[in-house]
Amino acid sequence: MTRPRPTGPRRSSAAGARIRALAAADAAVYRALRLRSLREHRDSFTSTYEEEARRPLADSRKRLERTGKRRDDFILGAFAADGAMIGVAGLERLPRRQERHKSRLFGVYVAADHGGQGVGRALVRAVIARARRIAGLEQVHLTVTRSNAAAVRLYRREGFVVYGVERAAVRLAGGGTVDKNHMVLFL
Ligand SMILES: CC(C)(COP(=O)(O)OP(=O)(O)OC[C@H]1O[C@@H](n2cnc3c(N)ncnc32)[C@H](O)[C@@H]1OP(=O)(O)O)[C@@H](O)C(=O)NCCC(=O)NCCS
Repeated sequence: MTRPRPTGPRRSSAAGARIRALAAADAAVYRALRLRSLREHRDSFTSTYEEEARRPLADSRKRLERTGKRRDDFILGAFAADGAMIGVAGLERLPRRQERHKSRLFGVYVAADHGGQGVGRALVRAVIARARRIAGLEQVHLTVTRSNAAAVRLYRREGFVVYGVERAAVRLAGGGTVDKNHMVLFL
């Protein structure tokens, strides 16, 4: 699951990737990238490819239509110089009044052919920067498969700390279970 680190010099920037919030017009490309992430990394995500592939494109469009209008619920996309969407990361604020100081980072993914170039870090940083501008928002939570060394390291480097480990958090459709780290960043 953890990708081998690319050899050679690591670029410290996101190699020119442009990051912006997604809107309804991005639905088809977003859905394709999301499905790719679920198909390629079955033990990294709680959602399954099969479940999400059954949902129509209209669902993705509706979601992006809604999030496109809100500051505290958004999905960011990273785009290569040729305009291809190469990565995504989302944030949603918890809806209940007494939990509105908390949010959830979800769906972090960078296409393997663009991995190891700082795109994942740039996406997570962009989410955090936007989160800091949301009035009343104090915490960003996430869950990550405990054995996913690349993702755990990325989140730690950006300031998230593990506050719990959930054993057998996910029972994989293909068999076996994975443990999840619960992590939080206090903004
Ligand atoms: C995890 C993921 C988003 C990282 O994206 P990326 O663009 O390759 O990462 P970056 O190049 O921005 O690297 C940022 C940091 O991530 C960590 N990292 C990235 N690739 C790594 C690897 N192969 N091994 C260990 N750490 C790694 C490092 O901390 C790295 O910074 P550092 O080298 O200064 O320590 C990407 O590998 C991915 O999409 N994986 C599959 C899906 C997934 O696991 N998503 C997370 C779900 S919670």
